[in-house]
Amino acid sequence: MSYQGVFVESDIKRNSVIAVTMATSRQGTGVVKELSNTNKYKIRAITRNTKSSKAIELGRLKNVELVKGDLMDPESLNKAFEGVDVIFGNTTPTKGWKLFRGSIVRSYEMEQGFNLINQVKFAFEKGQLNHFIFSSISKAKDPLKNDPAPGHFTSKWDIEEYIEKVGLKQITTVLRPVSYFENFENKLPGYSISKEIFPGIVGKNFKWQTIAVDDIGKWVRGVLSKPEKYKNQSINIAGEELTGLEMAMLLQRLISSEGIQTNYVMIPRVAIKLLEYDIGVMADWIERSGYGADMNKLKMIQKELNIVPTSLKDWLKEKLEIQNKKRSSWSGQWKTSQWKLQWDK
Ligand SMILES: NC(=O)c1ccc[n+]([C@@H]2O[C@H](COP(=O)([O-])OP(=O)(O)OC[C@H]3O[C@@H](n4cnc5c(N)ncnc54)[C@H](OP(=O)(O)O)[C@@H]3O)[C@@H](O)[C@H]2O)c1
Repeated sequence: MSYQGVFVESDIKRNSVIAVTMATSRQGTGVVKELSNTNKYKIRAITRNTKSSKAIELGRLKNVELVKGDLMDPESLNKAFEGVDVIFGNTTPTKGWKLFRGSIVRSYEMEQGFNLINQVKFAFEKGQLNHFIFSSISKAKDPLKNDPAPGHFTSKWDIEEYIEKVGLKQITTVLRPVSYFENFENKLPGYSISKEIFPGIVGKNFKWQTIAVDDIGKWVRGVLSKPEKYKNQSINIAGEELTGLEMAMLLQRLISSEGIQTNYVMIPRVAIKLLEYDIGVMADWIERSGYGADMNKLKMIQKELNIVPTSLKDWLKEKLEIQNKKRSSWSGQWKTSQWKLQWDK
């Protein structure tokens, strides 16, 4: 039962409708897949192009309906949110690439954020929406003073403030993921992951919090199982806290029988800043301030919400297994040490 906008846990009934924005993104896909597997919800997967191959693949999952929606077009969001009980909201800073700027554009993400939150508010005022999950980015409780954070972090934190300003905080859970494991699969020539190279953007001895992107889906499933407890909460979410050297060692141990040395290789900061300036700022920031997920507290919450985080070791193991399968199906005479992992998505 709901009364004057106050909902109790039993309101999240079987077959609640959950809208997932940016459904074809790495995060969105993880969320849609996880929710589809529960068989408990109807998922409205929102994309700008329902005919793209990624969208079609999502549309084949059970309980998933593809719906057109553009975060730059408020009217399309208004339609896509009609009759939904829950919204998972995400924004992107990524626009066309430009020399000296890369593809990250703060104003692009801010506009999406304002559009998204305004439409979440309309949906809430109509009466059916009772839970908003916003995917932001990890934020330390007491960030270092005068430490400039990357633009695509501050945009998300500013959108969080806007959620509060428009009075949606009470129905909102903010999930704040750290860097994805999937970033290690970058295709930068000379810095692509292989059995010999574990690439990273920070110095080898800095602790760096990371998460498997699909685990964001597990977190969404988790908070939906206890909505009343997790509304009005912000959680920095991470799966691992390891240095670059420790990450490389994990890979090295997995392939120990092959006699290959895995080295952690830091992508030069100057190259990162040239290609994607804000990611360079992010690397500086990780080294100085760090993401700030509380790994001990997370263990307790994960237990409560039945979330088993993916370890980097298991993630690497799975990638190696996929590659081994591919390799055994090839007829070529590849020597293991020559073989580069091609972790195609
Ligand atoms: N990479 C990391 O380590 C990391 C860590 C934490 C948080 N994040 C944040 O997570 C967010 C998502 O990143 P991702 O890597 O998961 O995304 P992604 O895989 O790069 O996908 C971006 C998606 O955004 C959608 N999109 C682009 N412009 C849109 C618009 N105007 N309206 C609606 N959809 C739009 C596109 O879908 P369609 O073309 O199908 O519409 C595309 O699938 C970003 O804000 C990023 O900063 C990233």
